Amino acid sequence: MDSEFLDNSEMADDFTHSRDDNVSEKPQFYVGLEKRFADLKGLLFHNQVSVIGVHCMGGGGKTALALSLCNDLQVKDYFHNNVIFARVSQSPDLNGILETIWEKITRSKRTEFKDVEDAHTELQQFILHQSKPILIILDDVWSKEILEKLLFEDSGCKTLITTKDKSTIPTNPSTQLYHLPLLGPKDALSLFSFWATGQTSISSDTDANIMQEVESKCGGLPLALKLFGSSLQGESQDA
Ligand SMILES: Nc1ncnc2c1ncn2[C@@H]1O[C@H](COP(=O)(O)OP(=O)(O)OP(=O)(O)O)[C@@H](O)[C@H]1O
Ligand SMILES: [Mg+2]
Repeated sequence: MDSEFLDNSEMADDFTHSRDDNVSEKPQFYVGLEKRFADLKGLLFHNQVSVIGVHCMGGGGKTALALSLCNDLQVKDYFHNNVIFARVSQSPDLNGILETIWEKITRSKRTEFKDVEDAHTELQQFILHQSKPILIILDDVWSKEILEKLLFEDSGCKTLITTKDKSTIPTNPSTQLYHLPLLGPKDALSLFSFWATGQTSISSDTDANIMQEVESKCGGLPLALKLFGSSLQGESQDA
């Protein structure tokens, strides 16, 4: 399986803020997830790994991959449905994120933390004293300082971080970095074609110039393929 459709109703419960770019929040078509899922599950299900740092340039597909992982049955199963997705971003409301993590983990409302440190300490205590496995996904982390307020220590609690800057990820033996690769040529054309024509495969008589333009303009960057494809929508039957 090189590509798959995801129903919007399957998307993870993203409790934080919406994106500030023009990209649709819930794409209907994913390519190339299979290999990436296999790589990440290998790390997620590894006993000695507690933090995974997924990194690549902007528009490379980190958020899409992280959201899709939240909805993967094997992942949900492994973590007993305790999978939490938090969009962090450049200037996060840390208190708000911690309160929501608290609510998701304890399944009870809690809004009276004194400050971020208090919230972190209480959550850390709670996590240490319960036995269920937890996966916390922190999407779009910009700095080490922010990250340390959102990381917890416990053998059953794993954190998957996405970031454009891999130096944000702490280096220690239980941490693994994963460089999210760009899409290969077949997946790239398929994604471009989906946004340009609605078809997920390129027809055999597609103009070679268009294929070259896609390659030179977008390479394997999902965001570029989506935007370029969308910009040509309805323009050419050959695209
Ligand atoms: N594997 C994929 N198949 C299809 N579309 C994808 C894929 N990966 C990403 N996209 C689309 O490309 C766009 C950019 O992806 P995404 O937002 O996940 O990138 P990002 O790495 O999180 O970017 P940023 O660093 O700016 O947050 C989105 O619209 C997303 O839907
Ligand atoms: Mg992102």
